[in-house]
Amino acid sequence: MYSIIVIPGKNWKLSLAELIAFLEIKNHKFYVNYFSKEFFVIQLEKKINPSVINALGGAIKIGEIETSFRTAYLKEAILNKDKISKKKIRNIILEKTKIIDNLVSSEKKTFFGVSIYCSEKKLGKISTRIQRFFGKVIKEELAEQGKKSRFMGFSKNRKNPQLSHVEVIKKRLIDNNGELIISTNENQTWLSTTKAVHNPFEFQKRDIEKPIQRKIFAMPPRIARILINLALCDRKNILLDPFCGVGSILLEGALNGSKVIGIDINPWCIRASEKNLEWLINNYQIQEHDFRVMLGDVRNLSGKIRYKEIDCIVTEPDLGPALQQVPTNAYAQKIINKLDVIYSAFLIESYKILKKNGRCVFVSPYLRTRSGNFLKMNIEEKAGKAGFKRVFPFNKDFFRKSAIKTVKIWENKSLVDISKRHKTGREIHIFQK
Ligand SMILES: C[S@@+](CC[C@H](N)C(=O)[O-])C[C@H]1O[C@@H](n2cnc3c(N)ncnc32)[C@H](O)[C@@H]1O
Repeated sequence: MYSIIVIPGKNWKLSLAELIAFLEIKNHKFYVNYFSKEFFVIQLEKKINPSVINALGGAIKIGEIETSFRTAYLKEAILNKDKISKKKIRNIILEKTKIIDNLVSSEKKTFFGVSIYCSEKKLGKISTRIQRFFGKVIKEELAEQGKKSRFMGFSKNRKNPQLSHVEVIKKRLIDNNGELIISTNENQTWLSTTKAVHNPFEFQKRDIEKPIQRKIFAMPPRIARILINLALCDRKNILLDPFCGVGSILLEGALNGSKVIGIDINPWCIRASEKNLEWLINNYQIQEHDFRVMLGDVRNLSGKIRYKEIDCIVTEPDLGPALQQVPTNAYAQKIINKLDVIYSAFLIESYKILKKNGRCVFVSPYLRTRSGNFLKMNIEEKAGKAGFKRVFPFNKDFFRKSAIKTVKIWENKSLVDISKRHKTGREIHIFQK
C-alpha cells in the first residue's frame, strides 16, 4: 500500500478539491483515507512523482508515509511520560521508518527537522513537546551510529512546530530526506518523509515579474492553477478564458501544456495578455505552445468561437467595483443585480461552445456586508437555464467511509475563497455540459 500526506494551503477545502480533481485528471486510483484542515492522507494504487506539487496551486508539502501507529502511545509517552510507550515509539522510528538510514547516508554533518501537524486540539497543545521528543530520539540514534547532526529547533514565539515550505527549500531538506512529518489525529499518527514542497518563488515570479500587471483585478497564479485543475484541464486540451484580463489564467494554462484562447472586451487587455504569454514562453522555454487572444464580447462568444470547440472554460468575470469600504446589504445587492445580465449571457454562450461533458469553472462575487452576512449571486438558476449541471467539488466515491464521519464535505456545492481583509471574495463554481 502506498500513501501520502498532503499539507494543504490556508484554504484547505480548495486544496482538497483541487487535489482530487488533479488525481482524476491523471487517472490515478486513489482514496482519501483521512482529511482535516491540517493534513490529508491519500492512498494511491500507484506511486506518484512528488514533483506533481508544481502543478498544484493548493498543496504546501507532500510526504511519503512510512508507517503509522495509535495516537494513544503518543499521549502516554508525552502526556503521561510513560517509559514503555516512549520506547515503543523509539522502536517504530528506528524499525519502521528510513529516516535514520537516510540521514546516516547523507554527507558530513547532517541537518534535519521535524514538523507536527495536529488535528486534535489536546495534542496540539503539546505539539512542541512531541516535536522535541522525536528530534531527540533521532539525534541520539544518529550519534550512536557515529553521525553528527543538527536538529532544527524553533524560536519560542512560533505558533506551531512546523517548518515552512520556504525553510525546507532553503535548508535543502528534500535532497537529504531531512524532514520528518508527524501528522496526528485522535486515533492515528502517521510518520512521513517530505518529498516535495510548494515553491512560492515560481508562482511569485509569474505574479509580479510578468511584463504587464493589473493589481486590483488580476487573479493570483495559485488560484488560477487551482481553477484549471478543477476544470479537469489536461495537456493538449483547449482552454478558454472569455474574460481574460492580463492573462493570469491563460499563463497557467499554457504552462500546463494546454492550448489557450483568451477573449476580453478591452483592447488593452488583449495586448497585455499577448505580451505576458510571450514572456512566459520565452522565460519558461515552452517548446510546444498554441495561444490565441482576441478582442470580443462574451455576449457574442459563439460568434467568435466554433460550437463545441472548447474542452474547458476557466474564468473570472466582472466581480463588480473595487470596494473601499464594506458595503451595506442594499449596495451589495445592487452590485449583484447589475452583474446578473452578464453572468446569464456568459453561461448561455459558454454552453454552446463547450464540448459535451466539458467543464466550466468560474468565479462569482462573494460580498462581505456591514451586517456581517455575505451576499452571493444566484448562479444555480442561470446555469440551469443555460443547460449546465452543477458538479459538487467533493465526490463521496473518493472518500473512505472512515474519512467522512465528521464533516459532511460532499454537501458543499461550491467553494469560497475570502480572507479577513477582503470585501469581495470569490465563490468558485464547477459546472459541466
Ligand atoms: C476580473 S477581470 C479578469 C481578471 C483576469 N482573470 C486577470 O487575471 O487579469 C474581468 C475582465 O472581464 C473583462 N470584461 C468585462 N466585460 C466583458 C465582456 N462583456 N466581454 C468580455 N470581457 C469582458 C474586463 O475587461 C476585465 O478584464
